[in-house]
Amino acid sequence: PDRYVVAGNPVAHSRSPEIHAMFATQTGESLVYERLLCPLDGFETSLRSFVAAGGRGCNITVPFKFEAHALARRLSPRAQLAGACNVLRFDGADDWFGDNSDGIGLARDIERNAGWPLQGRRLLLLGAGGAAAGVLGSLIEGRPAEIVLANRSVDKARALVDSHAAFAAEHGVRLRASALDETGDGFDILVNGTSASLAGAAVPVPPQVLRPGALALDMMYGPAAQRFLEWAAAHGFEGRDGLGMLVEQAAEAFYLWRGRRPDSAPVLATLRERIA
Ligand code: ATR
Repeated sequence: PDRYVVAGNPVAHSRSPEIHAMFATQTGESLVYERLLCPLDGFETSLRSFVAAGGRGCNITVPFKFEAHALARRLSPRAQLAGACNVLRFDGADDWFGDNSDGIGLARDIERNAGWPLQGRRLLLLGAGGAAAGVLGSLIEGRPAEIVLANRSVDKARALVDSHAAFAAEHGVRLRASALDETGDGFDILVNGTSASLAGAAVPVPPQVLRPGALALDMMYGPAAQRFLEWAAAHGFEGRDGLGMLVEQAAEAFYLWRGRRPDSAPVLATLRERIA
């Protein structure tokens, strides 16, 4: 069977092997999907060994998404825009195709799974690291009225806004960078793409920035998302973790590798039972 991995450091916590095993069973595709722990200074070497041993593709997690982008010979337009890759497909020893399915995964989770169409909404996206960079383009494609990108270091938010300014203008989306305490208020949807939750820190904006009943989504899942979900519930928001996004980005990677679209709903339901 064809071999795939999720490459990262750390990677032991990754649920991707379970998800792709379920997709393979569902579609009847014959493949093996494992975890590949790469030394922090040995991402490329680890991948080359894997490709030499017959590897066909990989997902990439923290902290290698930017390096994966640099290593790909060819890139999808959305990976070019993001400047980061969470998927590689090995079409030949040196012919690596890089894609980014995080954004489409997030947008599908918000629109289809949570039932919140993005069009016309006012969005607040927190963070300007790899996670935020990976999703901004796809959020723009949903044609919200406005996206405010707020980050602790405003310079990083500005850089990300600059690299997406033309794309936002093409889609008729107002896009601006902000400090965490200057976002404005009345937002319909909050997406937390900071790693504040991982560090056990509080949600880095006050609840007043959202309108009553807003959707509040953290890209983390499991224990890391707990504090965020409690905050959302305490303020009457519709809280959502990153599990749906995880399954949807995996479905898109599976499609890139195998040309088959798995049904994400039962996989998300099973995963939720296992994690709860
Ligand atoms: P990732 O790949 O998960 O995005 P990253 O590139 O290290 O990781 O980015 C982490 C993001 O979380 C950054 O936007 C960071 O803000 P800075 O750019 O100002 O460093 C944000 N972040 C981390 N801890 C935070 C905290 N306690 N409060 C607010 N923002 C935080």
